[in-house]
Amino acid sequence: MRDLLLLGIETTCDETAAAIVRRRADGTGTILSNIVLSQTDDHAAYGGVVPEIAARAHVEVLDHVIERALRSSGVKLVELDAIAAAAGPGLIGGVIVGLTTAKAMSLAARKPLVAVNHLEAHALTARLTDAVPFPFLLLLVSGGHTQLVAVTGVGEYHKLGGTIDDAIGEAFDKTAKMLGLPYPGGPAVERAALRGDASRFHLPRPLMGRPTPDFSLSGLKTAVRLEALAIAPLHDQDVNDLCASFQAAVVDVLADRVRCALRKMREHGIKPNALVLAGGVGANQVVRRTLHKVAADGGTRLAVPPPELCTDNGAMIAWAGAERLALGLTDELSFAPRARWPLDEVEGAASLD
Ligand code: KG4
Ligand code: ZN
Repeated sequence: MRDLLLLGIETTCDETAAAIVRRRADGTGTILSNIVLSQTDDHAAYGGVVPEIAARAHVEVLDHVIERALRSSGVKLVELDAIAAAAGPGLIGGVIVGLTTAKAMSLAARKPLVAVNHLEAHALTARLTDAVPFPFLLLLVSGGHTQLVAVTGVGEYHKLGGTIDDAIGEAFDKTAKMLGLPYPGGPAVERAALRGDASRFHLPRPLMGRPTPDFSLSGLKTAVRLEALAIAPLHDQDVNDLCASFQAAVVDVLADRVRCALRKMREHGIKPNALVLAGGVGANQVVRRTLHKVAADGGTRLAVPPPELCTDNGAMIAWAGAERLALGLTDELSFAPRARWPLDEVEGAASLD
């Protein structure tokens, strides 16, 4: 098998992104360019992503972002082996923009199309950055998703647990909004927590100790609100202490749920080569430090892409596209964009049970 060159397009949420990635015959990869245009400023005034604004912004800048990705990589369109785009899950307006653009390019340049699941792209990023072999345990923690998944191959994703209400990134975002911190909330809460006292508020650790690795975040969020109301008006130090206490609770829950998932994998006779942390919350330093220890205690290691590859980007889409293309998996131009597309419904998935 020869080297593969792919363009990857990401438009499922509020980042317009494109990248060129090379996958070598030995399975290793290199990012040749990675252009991310964040729409954060467009949405900040609303305290969250506004789907209609996001879709319009993708339309306005995507051509330009793709052009920059090609130019700065030094790769010409004709040299590409395929064009990959995130085909879901996500905000449907944005997904349509990215996937339709990829289809048009695929048709015009006569290159195969790879329709990539956005979650699969997060899942496979550690194979690009850390060459992690299968199988591994994936902890996917983003604004829209919180999942623990046993990954045994490309297209083989076995969900072990997930959230029964809010995603962890969403809990960070909602907590930030409640406390008057800017959007996106995750980085703002982490910064405030650095100056806070995590032992000041005794917040719940929902579902800790449960035998299945599921999550529940809404009770924790409510507990923060009640504590905040009880001491209002809030001073800066109160906000810092609430953030530190909230983050400590999240981290305790994460550690416990990951331990549980590692146990589950072993019960299924699978020895994970790594605990892979993916998604925007993976940019959090306290989360990273804690899971590093949890992985080591569990007889494995933590593999976590650099922060800019934990949040949404085009390189992860290009890489997932390359992994699929290497297995001969390409898609028809009729592939329909999907707002909802669980990982365990990705083609090739098999069940553990
Ligand atoms: O993966 P991502 O960029 O987008 C998707 O949701 O797909 O993740 C964004 C989420 C947001 O909820 C954001 O608040 C959270 O990741 N996040 C963080 C941090 N950086 C981003 N959460 C906690 N600590 C951070 N440093
Ligand atoms: Zn994402």
